[in-house]
Amino acid sequence: MRGLLTLKDLSTETIIDLIEYAIKLKNGYKVSYPNKKVATLFYENSTRTHYSFQCALINLGINVLQCDTNSSSVQKGESLYDTVKTFESLGVDGIVIRSSQDEYFKELENIKIPIFNGGDGKTNHPTQSLLDLMTIYEEYGKFEGLKCCIIGDIVHSRVAHTNIEIMKRLGMEVYISGPEEYNDNSSTFIPFEEAIATMDVIMLLRVQFERHTESMSMSVNEYHKTYGLTLERVSKMKPSAIIMHPAPVNRGVEIADDVVECSKSRIFKQMTNGVYIRMAAISYAMDGKL
Ligand code: CP
Repeated sequence: MRGLLTLKDLSTETIIDLIEYAIKLKNGYKVSYPNKKVATLFYENSTRTHYSFQCALINLGINVLQCDTNSSSVQKGESLYDTVKTFESLGVDGIVIRSSQDEYFKELENIKIPIFNGGDGKTNHPTQSLLDLMTIYEEYGKFEGLKCCIIGDIVHSRVAHTNIEIMKRLGMEVYISGPEEYNDNSSTFIPFEEAIATMDVIMLLRVQFERHTESMSMSVNEYHKTYGLTLERVSKMKPSAIIMHPAPVNRGVEIADDVVECSKSRIFKQMTNGVYIRMAAISYAMDGKL
């Protein structure tokens, strides 16, 4: 299958190439595909991924077809495969998909146009990981030996699961922390206060209430008191350490309001980088490299 479905399909060399190409695009390199059309198909809500893909497509001169799943034949029960096959038959050159179904793309093996995964269930969010890696690379110029702790609702997080695999492959030490109820042993667990004092990258996760089948065992106030990143805790971080978060943030839960835009925060830089990393991935696919 073509496109970008999971980072497990990409070599380490291709991942570094994509990041360096995204940085080149950010620095003003121009590339354009004016005769191409790409559709976006979001079965789950999104602001950053949906609209940064759209910005990336516009920046590349590509025409965008936004499929509104609330007014399309999805509402008549048309399957994912038939919807994507329809766009392929219409002559679309690629499709961006987000779905709550883990690895939905396994149903799409007969599709010939590139598919860009905007997130599937709890499993993959490849462009989010690439933009996270780009942000770390811009900060430190390397991955090898850096320590990152991903903190919070690990079990429900496709961002955590994608990042743990790829960061380890790139030579980073990756830990997890936060409430025991969200620990799925996907990496080594360390206590929260130890993580704050020792990491190069503190990556916070939103408590994904919409994915929970049972309510959280503590109140949001208790969560903030025990695991929230406050300015007091920020003061205990290494001087060179940075704060990341895929967003949307729950202000006053995993992160204090005044930490969101503090000097260590790279949260809005991550969003900016998302446009360039998606431009890089789309450009590679349009050139037949993905
Ligand atoms: N980070 C992220 O995937 O945000 P959205 O859900 O708004 O796309």
